[in-house]
Amino acid sequence: MALKIAVLSQKGGTGKTTAVRHLTEAFRQSGLRVLAVDLDPQGNLSDYFDIEPEAEPTIGDVLGGRATAEEAIHDDVIPANLSLAEAELTLAGKMGRELTLRRALAGVDDAYDVIFIDCPPALGLLTVNALVAADRALISSEAQYFALQGVEQALEVIELARESLNPGLEWLGVLFNIADMRTVHSREAYESLKEHVGDRLLEHSVRQSIAYAESAERAVSIFEHRPDLGSDYLQVAEELLRRLGLDGPRRRIRALMAADA
Ligand SMILES: Nc1ncnc2c1ncn2[C@@H]1O[C@H](COP(=O)(O)OP(=O)(O)OP(=O)(O)O)[C@@H](O)[C@H]1O
Ligand SMILES: [Mg+2]
Repeated sequence: MALKIAVLSQKGGTGKTTAVRHLTEAFRQSGLRVLAVDLDPQGNLSDYFDIEPEAEPTIGDVLGGRATAEEAIHDDVIPANLSLAEAELTLAGKMGRELTLRRALAGVDDAYDVIFIDCPPALGLLTVNALVAADRALISSEAQYFALQGVEQALEVIELARESLNPGLEWLGVLFNIADMRTVHSREAYESLKEHVGDRLLEHSVRQSIAYAESAERAVSIFEHRPDLGSDYLQVAEELLRRLGLDGPRRRIRALMAADA
């Protein structure tokens, strides 16, 4: 059974897609079989993985009942495009609408160790589908003082999903993303978040760098585009593998980090 991890945030632009892109890659380097699911009609994750824009079927077809999840896999990614927005509208009127992704992913459970789900920037039906399908939730938070409110709202939605439809859902952590730890503001924001969410906050954060936008534009990972920045996501991946109790893969990541240093 694949462990399913939904990556979400209450608002847009917190680095969710960038996190899924690189955690997928880092987990793969650790020897795990990883599927990445793009659940955002913007299709940013699909582009970042350089999946052809015409690739079909997509996650929209899966949620619309026109294709199985297995059929929608292209290079270990289930891509999304604007048709997902339409699929979401259609889904809204159906019985069991919150369970659709969970049921669909059951069909590919055995082929992967981990499935990452990249959520859209809203806590709507698509994100609820991700939280109902997921075993763990990872919140991406921008490194700003006002981020706390967004994190609290995301934690509330996770709680709702757990109480109503997915009692097995657990949080995996809160990632302090796009951070400039040289500034007092970022460091204070980190401490404030830590006071509120405690050990849910990951120890390692991801530094802010324009190189991420460049790497997205070129559709290559930061490990390739700027290997010197790669340690951030490797450290986050190592911390997540520790939390997940996946010791073999964790050791392989550590070996990679030692080789880089
Ligand atoms: N560590 C970083 N430093 C600087 N810029 C970053 C970093 N991570 C991501 N970005 C940039 O910030 C923007 C938003 O990132 P990303 O698309 O990953 O966020 P998102 O939460 O998925 O957004 P959305 O809510 O629209 O889906 C992008 O231009 C991305 O390249
Ligand atoms: Mg995104």
